[in-house]
Amino acid sequence: MRVFLGSDHGGFALKEFLKEKLGKKHEIKDLGCSTGESCDYPEFGKKVAELVAKSNGKALGILCCGTGIGMSLAANKVKGARAALVYDDFTAKMARLHNNANIACLGGRCTDNETALKLAETFLTTPFSGEQKGGERHLRRVEKIMEIEKRYFK
Ligand code: RB5
Repeated sequence: MRVFLGSDHGGFALKEFLKEKLGKKHEIKDLGCSTGESCDYPEFGKKVAELVAKSNGKALGILCCGTGIGMSLAANKVKGARAALVYDDFTAKMARLHNNANIACLGGRCTDNETALKLAETFLTTPFSGEQKGGERHLRRVEKIMEIEKRYFK
């Protein structure tokens, strides 16, 4: 899986850890930040979200900030991005299975590295159930999200 990765300073150490570990199994594209210096998370949220949205389902994203909250807010302003704050195995799985999230947001100040790695792996390897038999209701709900987006995003 191609994975676009980004962080601000609050998620920098976690991003570097994930880059190294996930790089053994996935094609990782690191979009910064590149030092742990103070920087603004919307810049990196936007970069990752634009590339994920453009990939049309061929890539997923992982964004790390202090809490994962700012990154999810920023990424969800990009048309086609469905960014989910994930903080345990259940939310990492459901974000893909039910919501077809294409970006996982993690909090480097809330989630330890090993836990975050497990959550990232769960997220990257769980398929969306809306394209499987019995998952029609999840497809319908995600399509309704995209309908809202069409109305408000040019
Ligand atoms: C940076 O101090 C912090 O606000 C940021 O990493 C993030 O947690 C925002 O949601």
